[in-house]
Amino acid sequence: MTPPAGSLLSAEQLRKAYGPTLALDGAEFSIHPGEVVAVMGPSGSGKSTLLHCLAGIVTPDSGTIMYGGRELSAMSDAERSALRRSDFGFVFQFGQLVPELTCVENVALPLRLNGTSRKEAERAALTWMERLEVDDLRKKRPGEVSGGQGQRVAVARSLVTKPRVLFADEPTGALDSLNGERVMELLTDAARSTDAAVVLVTHEARVAAYSDREVVVRDGRSRNMERAV
Ligand SMILES: Nc1ncnc2c1ncn2[C@@H]1O[C@H](COP(=O)(O)OP(=O)(O)OP(=O)(O)O)[C@@H](O)[C@H]1O
Ligand SMILES: [Mg+2]
Repeated sequence: MTPPAGSLLSAEQLRKAYGPTLALDGAEFSIHPGEVVAVMGPSGSGKSTLLHCLAGIVTPDSGTIMYGGRELSAMSDAERSALRRSDFGFVFQFGQLVPELTCVENVALPLRLNGTSRKEAERAALTWMERLEVDDLRKKRPGEVSGGQGQRVAVARSLVTKPRVLFADEPTGALDSLNGERVMELLTDAARSTDAAVVLVTHEARVAAYSDREVVVRDGRSRNMERAV
């Protein structure tokens, strides 16, 4: 398979069944460096499954996923885990911060796990927290901050390793619209400033509006949407 020219991450003919349920049925995908792509579609259509396959968390039954010229399925589990740590960042709907750690420790955590010293990791963490406008929360624990603040801390944490691809599954799903829009604004600005590609799963049109392009998943099949301008 030849990935689309210039694409960083692409998938062809993905199939994934969970027992009798066909979660993905020939889904396609591709994203360029620096591009923000919204994956939309009804509940149960296969959006999260597609994201998990692209991120190497779930192995598809068949189909090909190419990242930076390499086939994901041809890598060993250890290689895929290493790739996830070095090149990918993740933001989910909720429950992703470690409650026992302060906000700055949470943001610094991916760097600490990569062997960065505490001082250096926390310095980098604070830089990202400033960009996401949550640096004043550095000493608080996740249970002491609001939903929107917590999501901004999670976004800072997902970007602290400067990922090439940021995977976000309903990152604003638990927020009211004002907070959701602020999180999206900061997330997309930060990602664009580092040329990271963003795979953004959402079923909200106002969240998808922050993307460059929309892909709609229906019954496990994906389709590119032309956006009226
Ligand atoms: N681990 C699993 N075990 C069994 N079935 C699963 C599993 N994960 C997903 N499915 C099924 O696969 C289909 C696609 O699920 P998926 O989570 O990808 O949908 P989604 O588009 O993300 O939905 P939502 O918008 O509700 O998050 C659904 O029918 C779901 O029930
Ligand atoms: Mg989902």
